[in-house]
Amino acid sequence: MGLLLLLHVLLVAVAARAPAALAWGKEGHYMTCKIADGFLTSEASTGVKALLPSWANGELAEVCSWADSQRFRYRWSSPLHFADTPGDCEFSYARDCHDTKGNKNVCVVGAINNYTAALQDSSSPFDPTESLMFLAHFVGDVHQPLHCGHVDDLGGNTIKLRWYKRKSNLHHVWDSDVITQAMKDFFDKDQDAMIESIQRNITDDWSSEEKQWETCRSKTTTCAEKYAQESALLACDAYEGVEQDDTLGDEYYFKALPVVQKRLAQGGVRLAAILNRIFSGNGRLQSI
Ligand SMILES: *[C@@H]1O[C@H](CO)[C@@H](O)[C@H](O)[C@H]1NC(C)=O
Ligand SMILES: *[C@@H]1O[C@H](CO)[C@@H](O)[C@H](O)[C@H]1NC(C)=O
Repeated sequence: MGLLLLLHVLLVAVAARAPAALAWGKEGHYMTCKIADGFLTSEASTGVKALLPSWANGELAEVCSWADSQRFRYRWSSPLHFADTPGDCEFSYARDCHDTKGNKNVCVVGAINNYTAALQDSSSPFDPTESLMFLAHFVGDVHQPLHCGHVDDLGGNTIKLRWYKRKSNLHHVWDSDVITQAMKDFFDKDQDAMIESIQRNITDDWSSEEKQWETCRSKTTTCAEKYAQESALLACDAYEGVEQDDTLGDEYYFKALPVVQKRLAQGGVRLAAILNRIFSGNGRLQSI
């Protein structure tokens, strides 16, 4: 076992005890899916509801952290949560979408395309409920900049630091710390209030950009590769000036928060666009 892989395995083992530390935290995934829900066509909304497990109580957002809880049961799914790069601010599918053993297409972008194709193909051997739950989760992940972080530090996981007074790491700052801090500082710890505020921005300040976020000209795959490229670029900024054992506080927080809020918005809008395409029955995507 390579050292890096060993590290990764250990890290995943540690993180598994605190599922919130694995990907956009629970809040980030919930928010992405809740935002997506508001943009679904009635066809897609019906299609999604029909696939949700009963424990979701008809709420897409309830299933959006499920994939994190499956990383042990489905070990193969672990490398599907991210797509790290050598650190040149770019994501290249051919170069970067593989697992640590070099197996091609095994990364978050491949997974998004895979599960989208599976949902469009009624003869697919994959369980459609699981495909939906994976897809909704991974579209969130690909928008978290540090999920397209640098391979050497496992997407910022090995950069240990303090977030204000608490121990954290750079990856976790972007998964959770910024979001929970903002919920506390600006939304009275009310997740729904933060979601509503992001939704208001989408229909208001960001309404002209929003059209571009949704646009995907690719006929054969989703545009997840583009979302990973955006994340890789944002990751470069996120790393800037951050060293082991640093303490991150106000300055970093106020730089990161608008980026986080916009990525949650984009993730939501794009997840809706993908689901609308799947359930409208046109624009079939190809399996990889
Ligand atoms: C595609 O989905 C199947 C079924 O869930 C899984 O076994 C396979 O590893 C996935 N491949 C990628 C690249 O996501
Ligand atoms: C709303 O948009 C403004 C302007 O782009 C930004 O400063 C603010 O952080 C956004 N708020 C949320 C909750 O996304």
